[in-house]
Amino acid sequence: MKREKLVVTIVGCGSTRTPALIGSLVNYKDRFPLKKLILFDIDQERIDAQRDYIRLTMEAYCPDVELVFTDDENQAYIGTDYVFCQMRAGNFEMRSHDEKIPLKHDLVGQETCGPGGFAYGMRSIMPMISMVKKIREYAPEAWILNYTNPAAIVAVALDKVFPEDKRILNICDQPYSMIKSFAKILEVDMYDLEPRYFGLNHFGWFTKLYHTPTGEDLLPKLKDYLTNHEFKPFNAEQRDPSWLETYRNVNKMMQFFPEYLPNTYLQYYFFPDEIVKHSNREYTRADEAKNGREKQVLELCKRAKEQNNLEDIPLLIGAVHGNMMVEVAESIAYDLKKVFVVMVRNEGIIPNLPKDAMVECAGELTKNGAEAYPYGEVETFYKGLLENQYAYEKLTVEACLESNYQKAVQALTLNRTVVDPNKAKAVLDDLMAVNGEYWSLK
Ligand code: NAD
Ligand code: G6P
Ligand code: MN
Repeated sequence: MKREKLVVTIVGCGSTRTPALIGSLVNYKDRFPLKKLILFDIDQERIDAQRDYIRLTMEAYCPDVELVFTDDENQAYIGTDYVFCQMRAGNFEMRSHDEKIPLKHDLVGQETCGPGGFAYGMRSIMPMISMVKKIREYAPEAWILNYTNPAAIVAVALDKVFPEDKRILNICDQPYSMIKSFAKILEVDMYDLEPRYFGLNHFGWFTKLYHTPTGEDLLPKLKDYLTNHEFKPFNAEQRDPSWLETYRNVNKMMQFFPEYLPNTYLQYYFFPDEIVKHSNREYTRADEAKNGREKQVLELCKRAKEQNNLEDIPLLIGAVHGNMMVEVAESIAYDLKKVFVVMVRNEGIIPNLPKDAMVECAGELTKNGAEAYPYGEVETFYKGLLENQYAYEKLTVEACLESNYQKAVQALTLNRTVVDPNKAKAVLDDLMAVNGEYWSLK
């Protein structure tokens, strides 16, 4: 069947992940054909930095696709079918604060977990709500595929404010990335692996890994391998040192809790003291990413702009983020029922967790969105961890929507990376001092 051509909007196109996403759109142009691509960002300078590279790429590989760059939200969603959302309120400057301020208090400094994730969540919620309202003005039927972090908190907030909106899907690429690494270890095609998974975003576990051609669950074999081999990401050679350490911590978590295979992000909750001890307080992941990915991509874009052609300039292709975004949209658009790890409102998927939690689990992506597989009850240890983390997420969202300082203190005290209310209050006050442009609490 011929595939209908679609209109896609990228929100936060100034992200230096965008060129690789464009590479994925190019790569999948027959599977996910475009009529029009709208690139939207509130920062014209960030649009301009990558505009020529993106324009030249699209002219070379997809000349029939209409291309629009805009910093006007009233132009961004006209006639759109799919919105890929990857904004970061406050850019790298604020990511750096999210990571460094907690470290000053001897707390984990991470953009999505702990107090940094809290501060980032407080910045993301309001712009995400206004984005959804704006999209619904112009494109009531469009699919909103959200990657904006901290996705766990954004998902809870959007579900609370837009409970009836069935076309918002929050999704994270870390399970996808891990599956790609599993496939390399197991020497199978990643698209032949189908996971089962439970938890919350950046707080979950793989429980099964079916090899679809044979029906065999390969998780026991993978766990065996990881008991005596270092876990390396599939692209270890290209990864920065901090990410390699993160993957090694999966081996370590499995020594304590060998029953399932944990998401890498759980390291921050199980080993906060050790992570703080090994963190460089002056040079965090924000600096690594800025001096690595951002610098490389912007240099490439600058060269493309100066020479006004793509000679000797590679096509960047998103091995994870970009490919996953397109595959997710493709599965919804053409009702392919492919299996992804997604965030959905619990509603009994895990019967012994709160109904309104946004759980992360495996499900099929169909023309109606995510159809999650029922998981069943989780055991006491996991239930305890998840209830605690969900209470943190819920209180964070409420603190933001109500500007409620007391709920913020409660949220941070519940966070396993914090625990001590003295620390919760002190780090909250410091974070609030630099976030004044974005949020404040009473
Ligand atoms: P970045 O800081 O390089 O770029 C983000 C862009 O968003 C900037 O150009 C900024 O101007 C723009 N922006 C900010 N507020 C905006 C708004 N209200 N509307 C439109 N644009 C806005 O970001 P990055 O580090 O490449 O990451 C982009 C986002 O994607 C972040 O939220 C990141 O956490 C997220 N991400 C999520 C996943 C996932 O698994 N869910 C994976 C990768 C990245
Ligand atoms: C993974 C996570 C994302 C996160 C990203 C950070 O992909 O799933 O949620 O945004 O890592 O990567 P970075 O290279 O920016 O540290
Ligand atoms: Mn993620």
